[in-house]
Amino acid sequence: MDNIILVGFMASGKSLVGRILSERTGMPLVDADSVIVERAGKSIEQIFADDGEAAFRALERQVIAELCRDKGRIISAGGGAFVDPDNRRAMLEGGTVFCLQARPETIYHRLKADNDSGQAVRPLLAGPDPLGRIGELLAQRAEAYGRAHYSIDTDAFTPEEVAVKVVDLLQAGASTNS
Ligand code: S3P
Repeated sequence: MDNIILVGFMASGKSLVGRILSERTGMPLVDADSVIVERAGKSIEQIFADDGEAAFRALERQVIAELCRDKGRIISAGGGAFVDPDNRRAMLEGGTVFCLQARPETIYHRLKADNDSGQAVRPLLAGPDPLGRIGELLAQRAEAYGRAHYSIDTDAFTPEEVAVKVVDLLQAGASTNS
């Protein structure tokens, strides 16, 4: 079984949808950011603070390349991973890539809920105008995100509903390819 690879902006629901898909399919879930944290021995925020974004991206590239070599997994990648051409190639060749999409306001509200529940502020959004920054980053990344095999709008859907869409698209793809 090919990998199922989830990409998309921060708070587009990759981790939650990944968990549900893993339960439904029995395929193990691997979160690329968790592998990076394990390997670096510190949090993403700390990697950005101590070593800078370029160091984080280098580690991310290494981890994505490794994860995409294996099969049969659900891989959830950080929001910037699919923007890098090497990562994009590895992912498009390593499995079926689903980009979870959401409007800036939806992302902002989800991130705010994460912060209010005690999760760390994402380093890229730590400035004074997170909503403006989300809009900017989404615009910069739109072209790259558009290259996923499938795009799924998540604004009006629960993670369970998004997971069902992923499974439906996979089944439809399998029947057209067979
Ligand atoms: C990033 C997204 C984060 C994490 C890092 C950079 C990005 O992952 O990889 O903070 O560039 O969009 P999530 O998408 O899981 O929040």
